[in-house]
Amino acid sequence: MNIILLGPPGAGKGTQAQRLVEGHGMRQLSTGDMLRAAVKAGTPVGLQAKAVMERGELVSDGIVSALIGEELDAMGADTGAIFDGYPRTAAQAESLDAILAERGRKLEHVIELDVDEDALVERITGRFTCAGCGKGYHDKFEQPRLAGTCDKCGGTEFKRRPDDNEETVRTRLAEYRAKTAPILPIYEERGIVSRVNGMADIDDVTRAIERILRS
Ligand code: AP5
Ligand code: MG
Ligand code: ZN
Repeated sequence: MNIILLGPPGAGKGTQAQRLVEGHGMRQLSTGDMLRAAVKAGTPVGLQAKAVMERGELVSDGIVSALIGEELDAMGADTGAIFDGYPRTAAQAESLDAILAERGRKLEHVIELDVDEDALVERITGRFTCAGCGKGYHDKFEQPRLAGTCDKCGGTEFKRRPDDNEETVRTRLAEYRAKTAPILPIYEERGIVSRVNGMADIDDVTRAIERILRS
C-alpha cells in the first residue's frame, strides 16, 4: 500500500506517519526529515537546502524527487510507503506518478488532514522531538510519560527545529496554500482522496486513518 498524508505544516503528518509505521510495518518517507538529515550531514543537498528551509520556502522539485526515488529503491518492494510532506507542488505530483510507475507501485489513498489554521502556530511552536530516535512530542498535547525521558528509546536529549518559529510558520503556511493545496484536485479526479478531521485527538485521527486504510 502507498499513501500520501497531505496537510499544512503542523497538521500531524509526521505524528500519524510514525504511528502507521509502528502499527502497520509501513515506511515513512518524509522529505522534510531527509532534508534535515542532509543539512546535518553537510552534504551538497543540505548546503543548498539549509537557508531555504529556514525561510520556510520550498526546496527545488528536482532535489526532493531524487531523494524520494533513492529512498524507495532502498526499501523492500513489498513495504508500503507513507509519503509525508511530498508531493508539495504539481511538478512533484507528476514526478511521483512516474517514480511509482517505474517501480510497479500504485497510489491507493491520499489522506487530507483537515485543520484549523489558527491552531497550527501553537502546535508547531510547542513541538519537540527525541534527539535519539526522532519520536515527536508537544509541550501541551503529547508529553513524554516520564518528564524528560523519551517513551520510545529512553533518551534524555530533545531538540527543536530552527524553522519552528512563528514568522517561518507563516511563510510555510503561505507556501502550502499557494503551491500544495492546489494539487488536491489531481487526486480528487482519481477518486482516492479521503478527508480526516485533524483537529481531533491524536488517537482519534489515527483511528480515522486506519478505517480508510481498511476500506
Ligand atoms: P516538513 O518537515 O515536511 O514540514 P511541514 O510540512 O511544515 O510539516 P511539519 O513537519 O511542520 O508538520 P506535520 O504535519 O508533520 O506535524 P506534526 O505531526 O509534527 O518540511 C520542512 C521544510 O522542508 C519545508 O518548509 C521545505 O523547506 C522543505 N521541504 C520538505 N519537503 C519538501 C518538498 N516535498 N518540496 C520542497 N521542499 C520541501 O505535528 C505538529 C505538532 O502538533 C507535534 O508536536 C504533535 O505532537 C502535535 N499534534 C499532532 N497532531 C495533533 C493533534 N491531533 N492534536 C494535538 N496536537 C497534535
Ligand atoms: Mg512533519
Ligand atoms: Zn527516543
